[in-house]
Amino acid sequence: MRIVRTVAEVRAAIADLRRQGRSLGLVPTMGALHDGHISLVRAAKAACNAVVVTLFVNPTQFGPNEDFSKYPRTFENDCRLLEAENVDLLFAPEPAEMYPPGATTWVEVQGIQDRLDGQSRPGHFRGVSTIVAKLFNVIAPDKAFFGQKDAAQVAILRRMVRDLNFSLELVVCPIVREPDGLAMSSRNRYLSPEDRHHALVLSRALRAVEAQVKSGERAAAPLIATGLRVLAEAPSARVDYFRIVDPDTLEDRPSVRDGALVAVAAFVGPARLIDNLLISPL
Ligand code: PAJ
Repeated sequence: MRIVRTVAEVRAAIADLRRQGRSLGLVPTMGALHDGHISLVRAAKAACNAVVVTLFVNPTQFGPNEDFSKYPRTFENDCRLLEAENVDLLFAPEPAEMYPPGATTWVEVQGIQDRLDGQSRPGHFRGVSTIVAKLFNVIAPDKAFFGQKDAAQVAILRRMVRDLNFSLELVVCPIVREPDGLAMSSRNRYLSPEDRHHALVLSRALRAVEAQVKSGERAAAPLIATGLRVLAEAPSARVDYFRIVDPDTLEDRPSVRDGALVAVAAFVGPARLIDNLLISPL
């Protein structure tokens, strides 16, 4: 696996791969890799002839009081995991490489960017769409792989790809979970054993909603009440949001009949965790 640090180097390496006639799959990450990230790498390997992973803890998507400085950085281990997957190229720039002094250009996906996590984390999705647009411009992949774990991010990036005419396919991969149901996340490292146990309420709340839908409930209000009741079982969990929304616009839906995204965010101890359940039209 080749590791490059600058935009000039990654452009040259991509040009080499293109000269060999290879199709390119891109997997953008912030590192602290786990099996969720690796599932995207495997999907990219299966669909493309060459896989490029980016590892960049993007400062512009963190708020001033968020965890940018303490976000887990495990570069050596990440490299080992990616080597084992036969990744072709790793692009791991420093912040100054991606944001040269005086950078003032932003990508905003207006409306959607202020919903769900965007409501509680102002500016977060502007940072995400800007860095992802930059990575798309530098790498110009055929396909880019993202996790359903970050459902709002997927909705925003889909809209951005459409609105800005990016010539690539956005591929969304299912949520990878721990055996007990907890969605894998780099931020799970922040959890004490007790918090880790309380964190299970997120997936449990979603499963309770799913069961209630299976037994015939369609209206959002009672489904949300069920989710909130399960979340209240964990004393250290503080709910940020529990909503039932349109998966494309992220606007609240009164019913799950036409399909819906059930999305939850909660603070558990020091970590802000998210999870979701996608319901197909019934
Ligand atoms: P990060 O949180 O590192 O996640 C990188 C990719 O891995 C995202 O597409 C995310 O949805 C996916 N992922 C994380 N946990 C997952 C899980 N349990 N199952 C399946 N996929 C999972 O998301 C970001 O980084 C950043 O916002 C980024 C897109 C890289 C822009 O900075």
